[in-house]
Amino acid sequence: MKHIYLVGFMGTGKSTVGRALATSQGRRLIDTDDMIISRDGRDIPTIFAQDGEAYFRGLEQQVMADIAAMDEPAVVSCGGGVVLRDDNIRTMKSSGTVIWLTAGENEIYRRVVSDTNRPLLAGKKTPEEIKSMMEGRREKYEKAADITIDTENKTAEEIERMIKEELL
Ligand code: S3P
Repeated sequence: MKHIYLVGFMGTGKSTVGRALATSQGRRLIDTDDMIISRDGRDIPTIFAQDGEAYFRGLEQQVMADIAAMDEPAVVSCGGGVVLRDDNIRTMKSSGTVIWLTAGENEIYRRVVSDTNRPLLAGKKTPEEIKSMMEGRREKYEKAADITIDTENKTAEEIERMIKEELL
């Protein structure tokens, strides 16, 4: 399959692992949030604040369709909510392999606690709230995933090696 899609909740290391994987595979790295920002000209919190989540999801869906249509195989680091639209799941499954990165709520809390760039975590700062948000999405991630990797207590390089072995 063409692309390698990295999906998972915010703070599961998609960007860091994506960089390691793209380097080792000699592939281009595409970050869906970065593509949205460069197309729209605003950052993510501003898009959410001015136009709302549904508008953001529309931009995200368009970006996913455009990435799927690219010929050159890439590593794609996806925004955590990409699985919320079934269309995006279909798009990914028909154009690549989907890797779901997971971590427990305490680890995610530790990684995102001082972050101001994720509007959906504003005011959702306890591990319990993160856990409940993750549980609400679990079914979607399960539906999307071809391969699942637990990222807890592992370096990006270790995770990248595990993914390479799974892809063989
Ligand atoms: C979101 C995750 C973010 C970004 C937006 C919404 C989500 O990406 O797309 O803030 O709904 O989980 P990261 O997973 O890269 O933080």
